[in-house]
Parts: sequence; structure tokens; C-alpha cells
Amino acid sequence: MKQLPPIAHLVSPFLIFQILLVPTVTAQPQPQDGGALYQAHACASCHGKNGLQPISPDYPMLGGQNARYLLRQMIDIRDGTRTNALAATMRASVGKVSDEDFAIIAEWLSRK
Ligand code: HEC
Repeated sequence: MKQLPPIAHLVSPFLIFQILLVPTVTAQPQPQDGGALYQAHACASCHGKNGLQPISPDYPMLGGQNARYLLRQMIDIRDGTRTNALAATMRASVGKVSDEDFAIIAEWLSRK
């Protein structure tokens, strides 16, 4: 949770409220759980477990990367602002992922 403030300006106050609230509500996996969202959006099918086992050496490792950087890249790839190299490969799969889900996944990945 200490890493939340740096990305605060990229996400809505409501999202921050949700993130802070979730652990106090229940210990059960929630839709807001980064790992669950990572699986639900099929990120693992290319980036592997915890973002650390990409299926190709041409694909990046994501675990342990700065959350703000990860979030920026996710949004830029989805929106077509980043079009280098294999970005189009990912874009086809993440077109409908929200900024909020990306932010939660980015925070989760940064702790791997
Ligand atoms: C179909 C395969 C595929 C899927 C599914 C996919 N990605 Fe990617 N992703 C890639 C590839 C390939 C790249 C490298 C793009 C490039 O070459 O510039 C990438 C790049 C990224 C980057 C930028 C990393 C960096 O160091 O700049 C992030 C962050 C990322 N993916 C997150 C995700 C997340 C989160 C999901 C799920 C919502 C996801 N990806 C789903 C293939 C995929």
C-alpha cells in the first residue's frame, strides 16, 4: 500500500478508495485483486506467471517493474499511442481493459 501515492494522479480517487478498502472488508479473493484481474484478462497467456515467464524472449518481463511505468505502457499499448515492435500483438487482446483494472494489475505486478 505504501506504493499507492505515486500513481494516485493517474487513477480516480474512487479507485484508490476501493484499493484501500478491499483488504479490510475480507481476505477472500476479490475482483479488485490484481492477480485475479491478471488472470481474467489473459495477461498470463503471454507474460506468464507473475509476469515473470513470458512465452517468448521477444516478450517483456513485467514483475518487479515500477507500477507507474507499467500502467503508462498498458494504456499506451491499448490506445495505440505505443506502436513499436510487438505492441500490436498485445493490443488485440487488451482493447477493452479499463484504466482501473490496468492500475490494479500494475500495482500487483510491481510487487512481484
Ligand atoms: C497476445 C499476447 C499478450 C497479451 C495477452 C498481453 N500482452 Fe502485454 N505485451 C505483449 C507483448 C508482445 C509486449 C511487448 C510489446 C513490444 O514489443 O513493444 C507486451 C508489453 C507489455 C507491457 C510493456 C512492458 C514494458 O516493459 O514496456 C506491459 C506493461 C504489458 N504488456 C502488460 C500486459 C497486461 C497487464 C496484459 C493483460 C491485461 C497484457 N500485457 C496482455 C503481449 C501480450
